[in-house]
Amino acid sequence: MSPASPIAILGTGSHAPARILNNDELSRLVDTSDEWIITRTGIRERRVAEGGETTATMAAGAGRAALADAGLSPHDIDLLIVATCTPDLPMPSTACLVQTALGVRERAACFDLNAACSGFVYALDQAWALLASGRYRHALVIGADKLTSAVDWTDRTTCVLFGDGAGAIVLGPARPGSDSRLIDAQLGAIPGTAELLSIPGGGASPATPEARRCITMKGKEVFKHAVRGMEEVARDLLARNGLTGAELACVVPHQANLRIIHALAQYLELPYERIFVNLERYGNTSAASIPLALDEARRSGRVKSGDLLLLVAFGAGLTYGGALVRW
Ligand code: ACO
Repeated sequence: MSPASPIAILGTGSHAPARILNNDELSRLVDTSDEWIITRTGIRERRVAEGGETTATMAAGAGRAALADAGLSPHDIDLLIVATCTPDLPMPSTACLVQTALGVRERAACFDLNAACSGFVYALDQAWALLASGRYRHALVIGADKLTSAVDWTDRTTCVLFGDGAGAIVLGPARPGSDSRLIDAQLGAIPGTAELLSIPGGGASPATPEARRCITMKGKEVFKHAVRGMEEVARDLLARNGLTGAELACVVPHQANLRIIHALAQYLELPYERIFVNLERYGNTSAASIPLALDEARRSGRVKSGDLLLLVAFGAGLTYGGALVRW
């Protein structure tokens, strides 16, 4: 079995909590300032899930919006992947909670995938491969994280960086007459870098007294690997498809730090206007970052039919990944 047409993104959606936490509020929690955070990261504010909002409820909100955008019903979905490193529970998967919330049918594969901030690109690639097998027809691919639940609010080196949210796409056979399609994807993970960015407690490994369920990070080293990983994956994807950076209409990078994004733009020799950035309003939302930005880029008219797009991410692992998309 193989699909008759290429696989394309048929719809996008996103959901962000209403509660906004700005830099001035954070300056009252830890020894930091609006000026430091903006200069070093570009972040002005982030969203924080509260009042019963969870990774699953945000994911369901984004998924619902993506289905509406695609003009499809939950019954059309036979593959549901939620990329997250902050699932509501160790089990069942967040995808199963979202399945019930949306009314996705029983004969659908539902599972979570954890590649931290690269999770959405990983999930897109996995969904694409499964659709290309011909055994599934429509996939709902969601990136959702509630990283504020894993933030140490006394640690100024990490708590200023993260926020909550969800973004989603629907993948399926390209519409007749459309040139829209997924072109290529590449994933990777750098061996020996696990301790640079982690949540050391909460898993099934033997607990040490000091293992906490909070994010710990060696920021400078993550920064260097992030720049290298994103540049290399972008270079490889373009080269093996006979494309140049100049042909990219829009790059949607993982929204972690404006300085990382500037370095990527410089490397690709792209005018900065071709890079979509919304991190000033959301901070780093992990697996939600790219689909949330993609949804905003599309709805604001920054992405048009026929455009060549690059999605590129890095995250804990350390992992990285990229995807080339014809819109
Ligand atoms: N406010 C004020 N001062 C601060 C703050 C803060 N919030 N945080 C750190 N500082 C201080 C430090 O203590 C240090 O002071 P010192 O010189 O007296 O020791 C000084 O500022 C500089 O600190 P650096 O860590 O060197 O700052 P840097 O320029 O490297 O920026 C940052 C730190 C923003 C974390 C940067 O390294 C970065 O963005 N790294 C990448 C992190 C990232 O993207 N992580 C997410 C990965 S995705 C995922 O999977 C979750």
